[in-house]
Amino acid sequence: MNTDSSPIGVFDSGMGGLTVLRALRNQLPGESFLYLGDTARLPYGTKSSTTVQRYALQAARILVDRGVKALVVACNTASAVALASLQQQFAPLPVLGVVEPGAQVAAATCRGRILVLATESTVSGGAYQRRLLTLRPDLRVFARPCPLLVALAEEGRHQGPLVTLALQQYLQGYADLRRPGEPRSGERGSVSGSFDTLLLGCTHFPVFRDALREVLDETENPEVALVDSAETTARALADQLSSGNLAAASADIEPTLALMATDGIDRFRRVGGYFLGERLSAVELVDL
Ligand code: DGL
Repeated sequence: MNTDSSPIGVFDSGMGGLTVLRALRNQLPGESFLYLGDTARLPYGTKSSTTVQRYALQAARILVDRGVKALVVACNTASAVALASLQQQFAPLPVLGVVEPGAQVAAATCRGRILVLATESTVSGGAYQRRLLTLRPDLRVFARPCPLLVALAEEGRHQGPLVTLALQQYLQGYADLRRPGEPRSGERGSVSGSFDTLLLGCTHFPVFRDALREVLDETENPEVALVDSAETTARALADQLSSGNLAAASADIEPTLALMATDGIDRFRRVGGYFLGERLSAVELVDL
């Protein structure tokens, strides 16, 4: 079997993709990674698909030029609008997105009604909704843009009253947020019935898992399953590496992690640790 110790390239608009990187490193401990956060141009989620495609191409280019053996688009917004053009542009390099793995795990989990939380661009482009309904035509799929959550996550605010309030606002109308025994408020415009699965369709949102769980558990929604694409993306990457004979040999060289950002590298080091689950060492400033 051939082996390849070149790094795997991973990019996101900011730090959120570090949640995906964390799962990739857990699943593939022998692999080296090169991560780029395009912090200078975050958020992607409020921009047009033409702009996001251009940004994604530039971000991918810098990783490809540094010799990566595979590319993971750890940004839902970029995966939703730019994956096909990246795959075409960089063929035969394996290029994976996070929308397909996220849709797969959600479709396998859902019992009937699903709410996708994502950026404005991901929701309005409809990539998750289309894919979920293709996989499971029986599902009722709802989607809600949550742009404020990206700002809160990037600021390192993952819990507390502001986060709880934002989550409640975004879930309002899709879930019954009354505490047990609390009377109905007569609110209008709600979808009838609650969702049983909440798909975190943005790489920044897994940091709100605990806060979301709290909001759901304190109300009438303790059975709701929270799913994201990190683990399934990691499994999909592992499969691609082994089928393409690209996996690093276990006793090869010590795996490395290199981090790059397009702006605010001190902040990236400080806040990024929450997303990756460990302290970050050096972050290189790059210009796209
Ligand atoms: N990384 C983006 C995503 O997963 C969220 C942040 C942004 O809007 O750029 O959709």
